[in-house]
Amino acid sequence: MTQPPLCRIENLSVTYAGATQPALDNVSLTLARRRRLAIIGESGSGKSTLARRLAGLLPANATSSGTVLWNADPKLETDAAFPRAGRDIGYVFQDPGASLNPVLTLGEQVAEGAVRHLGLSWKEALAHACNLMEQVQLPHPSALLKAYPHQLSGGQRQRVAIACAISARPNFLIADEATSALDTITQAAITRLLDRLVSENNMTLVFITHDIALASSLADDIAVLKSGKLVEAGKAADVLSNPAHAYTKRLIAAHLDLSTPRLIESVL
Ligand SMILES: Nc1ncnc2c1ncn2[C@@H]1O[C@H](COP(=O)(O)OP(=O)(O)OP(=O)(O)O)[C@@H](O)[C@H]1O
Ligand SMILES: [Mg+2]
Repeated sequence: MTQPPLCRIENLSVTYAGATQPALDNVSLTLARRRRLAIIGESGSGKSTLARRLAGLLPANATSSGTVLWNADPKLETDAAFPRAGRDIGYVFQDPGASLNPVLTLGEQVAEGAVRHLGLSWKEALAHACNLMEQVQLPHPSALLKAYPHQLSGGQRQRVAIACAISARPNFLIADEATSALDTITQAAITRLLDRLVSENNMTLVFITHDIALASSLADDIAVLKSGKLVEAGKAADVLSNPAHAYTKRLIAAHLDLSTPRLIESVL
């Protein structure tokens, strides 16, 4: 029997107080289980708004209409509201510095999700945190439990933020430009890490990126947003090789323009 999708988004709109245009405008999209969806689109097109709405993390000045129907996981279905970030949904933000608390140890921060949502004692959760530090390939995990965010590099901090995001073993991970604040080599390492963790833990991944090459290498599916509207969605290979919408063609061309000028030259 085929499994139902993880989530169906129907006619979703989000407007921020005082804005003349909705940040998301009547978006409908299905998230298939255990697939990786890249959301692409220019700055301000509504990518983070969509991700935050999925995770229940919209700020108080946002109003939302339409439905987000979680119908795949019995654990999610029994919840009166939609799934919770931190428990059912892991969320990795662009800036690991901003998402980690400077005055708590890394161990406390990684263990917290497991204490709160898996019912572990602090002692058990710290052992769990140590395993997670290993999973995200941080050196000297037990010593790191007692360290603070400022003692790590940006890439290491993002690894800790990922460990925090998966601490309660969510089956759905959202990464909002999780690699864009990092240098190119660290970006590639964090991308490989996300790729491996998502596969090993059978997670569904939604990731937001400006990087078409990243979308092409990591995504099964791609959704394209423009001014809050979903202009195109489909299998990554189809969208990238045969974009239906002129806007998607422009995004791809802009990427080729920036990253591979020779390719452009050879096409012209
Ligand atoms: N907290 C907020 N309050 C008011 N307006 C907001 C807020 N967050 C986003 N917006 C507005 O909503 C629209 C969509 O923003 P959003 O952050 O979702 O875009 P984005 O595609 O993630 O952009 P970027 O690529 O720059 O991160 C923009 O016009 C933005 O100014
Ligand atoms: Mg954004």
